[in-house]
Amino acid sequence: MKTIKTQVGIIGAGPAGLTLALMLQKQGIKCVIIENRSREYVENRVRAGLLEHNTVEVFEELGVADRLHQEGLVHHGCYIAYNGITQRIDFQKHTQREVTIYGQQEVVKDLIKACLDRKIEIIFEAEATEINDFMTEEPSISFTHGGENAILNCDFVAGTDGFHGLGRKTLPKESYNEFKIEYPFSWLGILAYSKPTYDELIYAFHHEGFALASMRSEKVCRLYLQVPNDEKIENWSDEQIWTELENRLGIELDKGEIFEKGITPMRSFMIDNLQAGRLFLAGDAAHIVPPTGAKGLNLAVADVRNLAKGITDFYKNGNEDALNNYTKKCVSRVWRVQDFSNFMTYLCHKQAENGSFEQLLQKSKFDYLRMSEAYQKTIAENYVGLPFEAFE
Ligand code: FAD
Ligand code: DHB
Repeated sequence: MKTIKTQVGIIGAGPAGLTLALMLQKQGIKCVIIENRSREYVENRVRAGLLEHNTVEVFEELGVADRLHQEGLVHHGCYIAYNGITQRIDFQKHTQREVTIYGQQEVVKDLIKACLDRKIEIIFEAEATEINDFMTEEPSISFTHGGENAILNCDFVAGTDGFHGLGRKTLPKESYNEFKIEYPFSWLGILAYSKPTYDELIYAFHHEGFALASMRSEKVCRLYLQVPNDEKIENWSDEQIWTELENRLGIELDKGEIFEKGITPMRSFMIDNLQAGRLFLAGDAAHIVPPTGAKGLNLAVADVRNLAKGITDFYKNGNEDALNNYTKKCVSRVWRVQDFSNFMTYLCHKQAENGSFEQLLQKSKFDYLRMSEAYQKTIAENYVGLPFEAFE
């Protein structure tokens, strides 16, 4: 059987695994990434699009932000609308920070290129099947590649393999509590060759359901509609999608060619332990947030920043304190982000009948948002991302 050896075995070439690899490589620590999909597949998987200030800083430090700065769109605010009445949230005024719109698939392309340029080995189309001996100092990952079984021996295993990955399944069940909410709605998302007719993102509550207007460039729009969980994409013609988006957003759109559409369920999920011996989880493997706060990718980067620090401290100083504090360090930020994502989700989605107590409470929040700079600031500082130091 083919056997290879490295210092850190990383499962998953998503934003978490790739960023971790680049952080470790910068410190002279060797790692190998095992990814079950092809390079083409992971580079074209359409997902998130909004990078917090923190995330951009991390990518700058890693020297992978050149294209992001050329092509990304820097936004200093966003709009939150209630049945057509719009309030701008001014990030610059309230936080002196901003966000950058840059598609996750572009982030992943940049990270993969940097890994390969820096001689980090990524084994694509290789499926991790078992994480062995992680309670010892000599763990390993069994994987299959090209129809053959292989073993990656390492000192540490990073489970950065997403929500359905092997990492969380391997973590002993008795070592964590699990928390989850399944929301009774999903997002129908489209990408279209259209010029954005809005200058910043619009999060719109509408009595027929939520809509979000985002973008990828001056020629490509990313837009979302709240739909029921059992909705089928075949039930929505392109024309119906545009009509409903214009109705809910209350603006005219440039109705170009839709080249991608899909429906994503919404959930909040987390576990409160990310470590068992030499196995560490990060990113979606450990938590999922509903997308209304635009946080999934950003949280993955915040996790691996902590993990890279802990592993570096182990190799450079023989100190395991940071590794042993890894869960604690990550989980306080995860709870903050869970709360904000849940808050934005309940604030913006239609859940209750018009005129019901719940719906009138929801409306009251929008009225308050328009009158209170303090409320706007609370949203702004969570949305752009609380600084890393806030959780040190
Ligand atoms: P992932 O990106 O999931 O990467 C995990 C990797 O591990 C994958 O490449 C997978 O192929 C690989 N893998 C899994 N199992 C194995 C195995 N056994 N062996 C080898 N490799 C394995 N966030 C937002 O903020 N806004 C959005 O609009 C948004 N939309 C999303 C839409 C979808 C459909 C999904 C799934 C997520 C979305 N997210 C969104 C969340 C965001 O994209 C994630 O938080 C982010 O991708 C997390 O990165 P990650 O590296 O932790 O996990
Ligand atoms: C995008 C996705 C989000 O979930 C969000 O809150 C903002 C923007 C996007 O895909 O552009």
